[in-house]
Amino acid sequence: MVARSDNHVIGKDNDLVWYMPADLKYFKETTSGHYVAMGRKTYESVDKPLPNRLNIIITRQNDYYRENCIVTHSLEEALELGEKNGQQELFILGGSQIYKLALDIADRIYLTEIHGEFEGDAFFPEIDYETWQEVKREDHDADEKNPHPYSFVVLERR
Ligand SMILES: NC(=O)c1ccc[n+]([C@@H]2O[C@H](COP(=O)([O-])OP(=O)(O)OC[C@H]3O[C@@H](n4cnc5c(N)ncnc54)[C@H](OP(=O)(O)O)[C@@H]3O)[C@@H](O)[C@H]2O)c1
Repeated sequence: MVARSDNHVIGKDNDLVWYMPADLKYFKETTSGHYVAMGRKTYESVDKPLPNRLNIIITRQNDYYRENCIVTHSLEEALELGEKNGQQELFILGGSQIYKLALDIADRIYLTEIHGEFEGDAFFPEIDYETWQEVKREDHDADEKNPHPYSFVVLERR
């Protein structure tokens, strides 16, 4: 699951570069009650577990610990954990390094397009539309709370 600008930016200085409450609400509604996995840097950008979700942190560090989180050392290990516990879907929450790995194995992308060009240092990889098919799109204008136009898009592996 990712929010990405038109020029593929997802973050800067280990933080987001926009404030879009509609997307935060969509993110919360979509992921609540599920397992979520993220890279260590993304986790530390907030540094507390997302409530009502099982938080899995991916790191190469052997002694990494965060209270109320599960630590794994690969994306595969995170997926196995979800499968073993009967999860139909495990949400991969980034960041850039983890998305690169995830794009090869994910079945679905929940993509929020934030329409605009932003400066950043973390990017989402190019989506190959020969591999991915758009199955849902919901376009929204900017409004008083959400300063940029945005689209909720779902893509599935062909
Ligand atoms: N817009 C969005 O939807 C969105 C979503 C998430 C994040 N972001 C942004 O993305 C940026 C962070 O992305 P990032 O690429 O810098 O960091 P990241 O992907 O969140 O985390 C990178 C860390 O993950 C661990 N890791 C990476 N590959 C691994 C592997 N193969 N096996 C085991 N562990 C591995 C390493 O942790 P160790 O160093 O501990 O070994 C690495 O330092 C921030 O700006 C954040 O705000 C945006």
